[in-house]
Amino acid sequence: MAERAAMRIGVLGAGAMGTGIAQVAATHGHPVVLADANGAAVAAARESIRRVFARLVEKDRMTVEDAAAALDRIAPTTLEDGAGLHALADSDLVIEAIVEDLAVKRDAFARLEQATRPGTILATNTSSLSVTAIAGQLTHPERVVGMHFFNPVPLMPLVEVVPGLVTDPEITSAVHDLAAGWKKVPVVAKDTPGFIVNRVARPFYGEALRMYEEGVADMATIDWAMREVGGFRMGPFELMDLIGNDVNFAVTQGVFAAFFYDPRYRPSLTQQRQVEAGMLGRKSGRGYYEHGGGAVAPAPQEDRVLAERIVNRIVAMLINEAVDALFLGVASAEDLDLAMTKGVNYPKGLLAWADELGADLVLARLEDLQAEFGEDRYRPSPLLRRVARAGHGFLDG
Ligand code: NAI
Repeated sequence: MAERAAMRIGVLGAGAMGTGIAQVAATHGHPVVLADANGAAVAAARESIRRVFARLVEKDRMTVEDAAAALDRIAPTTLEDGAGLHALADSDLVIEAIVEDLAVKRDAFARLEQATRPGTILATNTSSLSVTAIAGQLTHPERVVGMHFFNPVPLMPLVEVVPGLVTDPEITSAVHDLAAGWKKVPVVAKDTPGFIVNRVARPFYGEALRMYEEGVADMATIDWAMREVGGFRMGPFELMDLIGNDVNFAVTQGVFAAFFYDPRYRPSLTQQRQVEAGMLGRKSGRGYYEHGGGAVAPAPQEDRVLAERIVNRIVAMLINEAVDALFLGVASAEDLDLAMTKGVNYPKGLLAWADELGADLVLARLEDLQAEFGEDRYRPSPLLRRVARAGHGFLDG
């Protein structure tokens, strides 16, 4: 394999993610071919990277020369209809960031396998599809790996590295090292629905929606509780409004279906109605909150006792999800905590949080919820019971 900085990087898809990935790779010295089927997307991507570099120069965070050299390293390429992916033939690593559709990605990987050398690593930035499924019909699926970046790529440190069922372990460690060389924080996740972040974070939204439906508190109060008492940067409802309810709901539905409808991941009717009404959040001007000019934010009920009840319930559910991911070998304890602090800015890792509270206390909270509602949604992970019984922590056990 080529020396790391000399590795030629191909990026397929010049949308939000591909543009960010190309910028980061070029900044770290790689020649980059940034290819897309849509010429307008390619032009917009180049222009957006040029503007970012210009701003970095203005702020003295990059020299004029470095900015010019980095921009020069990117070769924006429009793929002609039916012309195949020859533009990517010389790449040592191709990172695919096209539309999130299994059939389209499978077709792109079949063409990538044809167009590239046998030693080229083929990575996918999919956030919700199985890496194994994307690679499944290739002659050499062992060279395909998941490299899941977060948006916006230049600012978000986390990269989930996801080996498929037959991925060559050397390829997994090569992309892990490459991401670390790009000053990212790589973690390794098993090829399971939602990988780490999109799985473990589900109760942040789901349990908040559930409490709202039960009338425990209104949305503004739940958000206030999670910020003021929980220490999260944003509350669940304001975050869903930022992400877009359509996007967030689609992820929840995807994870629910991919787990064969495990009730723990059941989507919320409240959120479905929001999507049906076109109340998507900031991008549509209205979501759980009004976002237009002059909109007045509803006042929360600043009741600390209520807030603690809200935080305790959501955090217990989040911890249970992280513990179960550890139990099922989705990732190491260290990587699980890194993923949630670096990928979604949680105030602390969930396993560290469990150790701070004590597994026995978290278990008791879940058992209370399970007894109250009689639902499988609240079943404690077997590992939570085991650690509570043993009396040690998750990180020192
Ligand atoms: P986007 O819609 O901004 O960009 C996709 C680009 O791919 C478009 O420019 C489109 O012209 C191009 N494209 C589509 N099909 C193509 C094909 N067959 N050949 C060549 N080009 C093609 O999408 P975005 O948001 O950049 O997402 C890309 C991938 O990254 C998806 O798999 C998505 O799930 C994943 N992802 C997205 C995140 C986000 O927050 N937007 C976060 C992490 C992963």
